[in-house]
Amino acid sequence: MLETTSLLPNGLSVEAARAEAARTYELDRAHVFHSWSAQAEISPMTIVASEGCHVWDGDGNRLLDFSSMLVNTNIGHQHPKVVAAIAEQAAKLCTVAPQHANDARSEAARLIAERTPGELNKVFFTNGGADAVEHAVRMARLHTGRYKVLARYRSYHGGTETAINLTGDPRRWPNDHGNAGVVHFSGPFLYRSQFHATTEAEESERALAHLENLIRMEGPSTIAAIILESIPGTAGIMVPPAGYLAGVRALCDEYGIV
Ligand SMILES: Cc1ncc(COP(=O)(O)O)c(C=O)c1O
Repeated sequence: MLETTSLLPNGLSVEAARAEAARTYELDRAHVFHSWSAQAEISPMTIVASEGCHVWDGDGNRLLDFSSMLVNTNIGHQHPKVVAAIAEQAAKLCTVAPQHANDARSEAARLIAERTPGELNKVFFTNGGADAVEHAVRMARLHTGRYKVLARYRSYHGGTETAINLTGDPRRWPNDHGNAGVVHFSGPFLYRSQFHATTEAEESERALAHLENLIRMEGPSTIAAIILESIPGTAGIMVPPAGYLAGVRALCDEYGIV
């Protein structure tokens, strides 16, 4: 906590913010169901304003947001250019059905395609991460005619049926009946090495050997896809050793896996 201010960046006085926050909290506890939580055990912090790298809580305290909200506000809260772009688009066109072309979507697709490698030139826009994972897996299964998907332990892929079954943390267990076609493997993480490695190079080499062994034992002709967070986030920030991701790519190419 840094300090208590008298006026919030959105112009609210601390007293007004407190009153608003009390009402917000009461309604939240009465009606809002929060994800991944035992509902009776939680006491959500109310956020009444944000700016740059700070958020203000319901008591008017200015807090440094070390987690960038959900590790996603990388350019800071309420960036004026983002706020202006949202307002401009809302004034112009609030919604468009998937079958129509639209300037904002066309331009976003172009910007993404410019940055994706090689022949990755088409963008399929979804509503969020889990949705994207579900579609990617279905596409991989249709394309390969295979069913299994390999995913690593200590990963998070989303809260929908396939995505939660791909997830490699305990949030999967209540929904895992062993019939989702998912097989999990261990990724490299020298700090808690599963492979008794002492160097990054050894960890990478052994993690790749473990993955290749799993592919062979499961049967390459049954495996549609491997899904991998390049750097896992919510399951722990585990940066892969040099060469690991390229090694996984090479295994996919060798065994016809997407
Ligand atoms: C790597 C990864 N995949 C998928 C998801 C799921 O995204 P969403 O919550 O938008 O469905 C997340 C969310 O944290 C994620 O970190």
